[in-house]
Amino acid sequence: MKNYLYKLLPALRMLFSENQLVTIRQIPNISCTALDLADVLVNEHYTKSKDHILEIDAFNLTEEEDIRQVAYKWFQGHSQLPEFITIKDFGVFSIAEHASRAVSLVKKETWFLSYNKCNRMAGKVVIITGGAQGFGAGLAESFFMEGANVVIADLNSEMGIKLVSDFNSKRLFNIAQFVKTDVSDQFSVENLINETILFFGGVDVMVSNAGILRAGGIDEISLETFELMTKINYTGYFNCVKYASKVMKVQSQFTDKHFFDIIQINSKSGLRGSNKNFTYAGGKFGGIGLTQSFALELMPFNIKVNSICPGNFFDGPLWSHPETGLFVQYLAAGKVPGAKTIEEVKHFYEKQVPAGRGCEVIDVACAAFYAIEQKYETGQAIPVTGGQNMLH
Ligand SMILES: NC(=O)c1ccc[n+]([C@@H]2O[C@H](COP(=O)([O-])OP(=O)(O)OC[C@H]3O[C@@H](n4cnc5c(N)ncnc54)[C@H](O)[C@@H]3O)[C@@H](O)[C@H]2O)c1
Repeated sequence: MKNYLYKLLPALRMLFSENQLVTIRQIPNISCTALDLADVLVNEHYTKSKDHILEIDAFNLTEEEDIRQVAYKWFQGHSQLPEFITIKDFGVFSIAEHASRAVSLVKKETWFLSYNKCNRMAGKVVIITGGAQGFGAGLAESFFMEGANVVIADLNSEMGIKLVSDFNSKRLFNIAQFVKTDVSDQFSVENLINETILFFGGVDVMVSNAGILRAGGIDEISLETFELMTKINYTGYFNCVKYASKVMKVQSQFTDKHFFDIIQINSKSGLRGSNKNFTYAGGKFGGIGLTQSFALELMPFNIKVNSICPGNFFDGPLWSHPETGLFVQYLAAGKVPGAKTIEEVKHFYEKQVPAGRGCEVIDVACAAFYAIEQKYETGQAIPVTGGQNMLH
């Protein structure tokens, strides 16, 4: 029965969203089962009168049309959004034009800062897997600073929680949350989506970014390593699309104003083979096949699916980590002839890029915003390689 809630909330969110996407947020620890939830809200001074509360008995909403009627009837009697939605047997949810107001309704306090509706991602709910460090963390920050509510989904709780609290300390109008997630485990990804619905009411953008790299030639890579990388880099993307598209499809059933996006962070190794790195390149090539095929299947639901193929992120931990980074490894392995320092190894790789530098977070963020803001392109693999890879 709880599964019904994960469809009902995204449907309501779309019906109450005009041009501005609204946020719906579960109020934890209210577990009344009676219809007098509204009395609880008034008695506890969450709201002045029941006039701000939309009461729903989910058992009477069996058909799509019944759900549409809920919003229709509300707006016949009110010119504003409800502040709270009570759903019998499921609990209480705050609803507001931005997440911080939804939370402040819950906390019985209100504070306003200069909310800028011009923020490019305002109101969007964006999940970023592997968002605790590297490209993912940078993308999470870029989306957050553009007004999105961000869910960082990562195995690394310590770094993920710290990042989320850094973002939230900026006290913008949007909110970041962390959900511990293993993208290679379908139940973990299903939980991620369900938690996101309870935090924000739905999912607008799924960025499938989590990925690992273990380089090696055919004589070095074991079946275990091959399967581990494939499970995270390839199957993980499938898991993300499988569960994110479910909620996006419900949303698209209830609005024709908004598009939803799935973005896979692929690689230049998804466009061209990579010497002694076939496990990584194979998974990334496969990812583009998934992107093209998902794009065909999901466009009728206003869900765009695109891959972004960055070049090497030399300043990120994968390359620059002082102990485990690729620069240290390549220096030790003598991979760059004549190089005696990390700077020389780095320079060797930078020289191969027409733009003369590595890929940076801002480059990938610009591509992601483009993929989201345009409404007429899906199934693409967008290179962001400073000219190193060109499409033909
Ligand atoms: N770094 C580069 O040069 C580069 C270049 C092109 C593409 N990419 C791609 O960008 C993406 C991010 O790469 P990065 O270099 O920023 O990585 P990174 O190693 O810096 O960070 C990866 C993050 O993913 C998390 N993670 C690992 N396995 C996970 C799992 N099973 N479930 C959830 N989270 C998991 C890690 O905890 C970490 O926080 C990857 O898909 C990678 O293939 C990276």
